[in-house]
Amino acid sequence: MEAEAAGGAAGIYPVDILEDDPTGHQEASLAYYTSLGEGAGTPGIFTLPTGEQVNLETSSVCFCTVHRDKPQHKLLVLVSPQDTKTVVAVYLKESWWSTEDVLRTSDPTREGLVKVQSFGERIVLFILNVIIFGRLERSLDDDGMFFLPHSVKEQAKILWRNGAAVGFYSTKMKGSLCGNGTSVCYLLPVFDTVFVRKQHRHQGLGTAMLQDFCETFPEDEALGISSPISPAMYQVCRHFLLACPEERGRLWEVAPPGAWGQRVNIWLKVQLQQARLPEWRAVYPGNPEEDVSSPGQTSQDDGPTHGHKEQICGEELENTRNDQDCGVKEEDARLPGDTLLD
Ligand SMILES: CC(C)(COP(=O)(O)OP(=O)(O)OC[C@H]1O[C@@H](n2cnc3c(N)ncnc32)[C@H](O)[C@@H]1OP(=O)(O)O)[C@@H](O)C(=O)NCCC(=O)NCCS
Repeated sequence: MEAEAAGGAAGIYPVDILEDDPTGHQEASLAYYTSLGEGAGTPGIFTLPTGEQVNLETSSVCFCTVHRDKPQHKLLVLVSPQDTKTVVAVYLKESWWSTEDVLRTSDPTREGLVKVQSFGERIVLFILNVIIFGRLERSLDDDGMFFLPHSVKEQAKILWRNGAAVGFYSTKMKGSLCGNGTSVCYLLPVFDTVFVRKQHRHQGLGTAMLQDFCETFPEDEALGISSPISPAMYQVCRHFLLACPEERGRLWEVAPPGAWGQRVNIWLKVQLQQARLPEWRAVYPGNPEEDVSSPGQTSQDDGPTHGHKEQICGEELENTRNDQDCGVKEEDARLPGDTLLD
């Protein structure tokens, strides 16, 4: 039995047809996984857009946790036989879809920055964040940075371009919980995670997302960007603040919850960096490295979502070979980036 890449050829993509039914999706995936395990009939084969064929068997699939605060929301994925950390297809609507098709849309109204609302859009956000940025396109240029899976209610926008999702950004709202089991809330709106796919970089999209964030909160005197900020993102900030001097006093690099002692003015920092001055002690009360590794970084609930790889444990895709009942494991409750393969 051969499972061709579903839908794509017919111009239908999962984000346009998925119902808002994570539970139903979960049950269908589990039933399919069980049938694979029982080995009924001839094993199926999935043909990738490249023509490569992958056997559909339990040893080549695994479940990933989509939301860090909802370990029961799992996605069944197919991995490359050559590299079991590379996801090549996703099981949705009782079919396998290539990862690239999951990122496509046939809805012409999905263009530009669109707020993430539906279950299908949350899956697109997950694929972009964990599978594309976290695995496929992470490079030394990104300074080892990657983001944890977002929470189920994360405020985020996906950037759609010519029928495909090419980037996203997420926001922590003023007054929302910082996570880590505390009652501490963000004191200002914070631009928390941002990503643009490699082939779309250097075309102003990162800057456009930062601008969109600033325009969303015209009334706020201070706006944050989550620390640590990547070198590329500093360049985006510099670019943006050169063009929009009126925003220079408003943008701060922040650690949660963003009190005055946890803020550094980004324009000042950009200028100091350019002048190659030892800026930290002059402008940052306290040790910035300590703030970078604040407890929220590895929090499972609503804390900041980004950090550097070495600061976050358990980012391996969960291998169902060792998880035959597909139940929620203890690690699921413990690790935000629990989902992982090895
Ligand atoms: C940071 C990121 C979102 C920037 O996206 P982008 O769409 O390329 O940004 P822009 O095109 O708006 O860049 C604006 C300007 O910033 C500068 N810039 C952007 N990326 C840069 C880089 N890697 N190195 C040097 N300068 C860079 C350039 O001056 C650029 O203008 P130019 O291309 O005309 O020279 C993207 O590189 C990315 O997704 N990186 C990985 C994730 C990440 O680091 N997120 C930030 C976490 S804080």
